[in-house]
Amino acid sequence: MEIISNPTQVEIKKAAQALKDGHLVAFPTETVYGLGADATNEKAVSRVYSVKGRPTDHPLIVHISSINQLSKWAIDIPEYARKLAEEFWPGPMTLILKRSEIAKDFITGGQENVGVRVPSHPVALALLSEFEKLGGAGVVAPSANKFSAVSPTNAYAVTEEIGDKLSKDDIIVNGGQCLIGIESTIIDCSEQIVAVLRSGAVTLEMIKSLIGLQINTKPKTKVKAPGLFEVHYSPVAEVQIGLPARPGEGFLALENIQSPPGSIRLAAPKNVEQYAKELYVALRLGDKKHLTKIVVIPPEGTGLAIAIKDRLTKSAGKKAL
Ligand code: TXA
Ligand code: MG
Repeated sequence: MEIISNPTQVEIKKAAQALKDGHLVAFPTETVYGLGADATNEKAVSRVYSVKGRPTDHPLIVHISSINQLSKWAIDIPEYARKLAEEFWPGPMTLILKRSEIAKDFITGGQENVGVRVPSHPVALALLSEFEKLGGAGVVAPSANKFSAVSPTNAYAVTEEIGDKLSKDDIIVNGGQCLIGIESTIIDCSEQIVAVLRSGAVTLEMIKSLIGLQINTKPKTKVKAPGLFEVHYSPVAEVQIGLPARPGEGFLALENIQSPPGSIRLAAPKNVEQYAKELYVALRLGDKKHLTKIVVIPPEGTGLAIAIKDRLTKSAGKKAL
């Protein structure tokens, strides 16, 4: 596997060619790092599943360079979905839409719909448009971690997660630390009622004020969506929500909350945006320090705080079983 440290246009072209040739390319997005493969290449996509250790009936998100590519992948796009795409793309939002012909079962997990996203990270956008210039239609990219583990938000974490599973011709593109730090908001636009399947930096308030429709925030879904599992985003350490924190245990809370005596402070974010950005870095740090427990105090409130609480609850789910 090759690591591209300072991606120039020449190197991004090389990575796009690698994707076109059926290799895997891990690349930065503004949310988390993705493990990319040509979305029309069944063999390449099957490697994504095996590298992640992910069951094959869990669908993947197709990444495209602009809204202009959307009709390649989706049909019967409702007016409100188009509005969302125009407002929030490029950005941390995935739309679930009725699939077109080219969205095959091997990316949708056999479902009639497909997840699509235009990321805003400049390296991701450059990679996707170079890939499209080579005749590519879209790049599937799940978070570049092993199944159920914490999503990587920098290239080093990608190498730690899956470096040993990548082959000689695969590439990891380093685009620095992800600015948002948690995965995209997923909005299901394929059913009668709009549903938020995963919360994220495009918040419920933002969606509501744009489309003015009723939104289902507790959808019941038959889809095997890892992000919807009770147990997910889990470090090795046990995650406990709320005090007490004993000496030697990890501690994560906003800056204004003092560390309990003897606890090991993993991050002290100043605000919710910073909290999201540092969340997975802090959980990884806890594992690096071989902590057995990480005590977290989630931020209060709505907006991005809801997405952070969601990830923390799922991280904590492991030991609750
Ligand atoms: O921010 C993100 O979305 C990142 C970056 C790399 O773009 N990607 C990401 O992908 O988080 P992944 O595969 O780790 O999580 C995508 C979630 C999964 O829970 C998957 O099951 C769900 O989206 N999903 C994908 N396609 C779907 C579909 N057609 N219907 C319902 N859920 C879907
Ligand atoms: Mg994931």
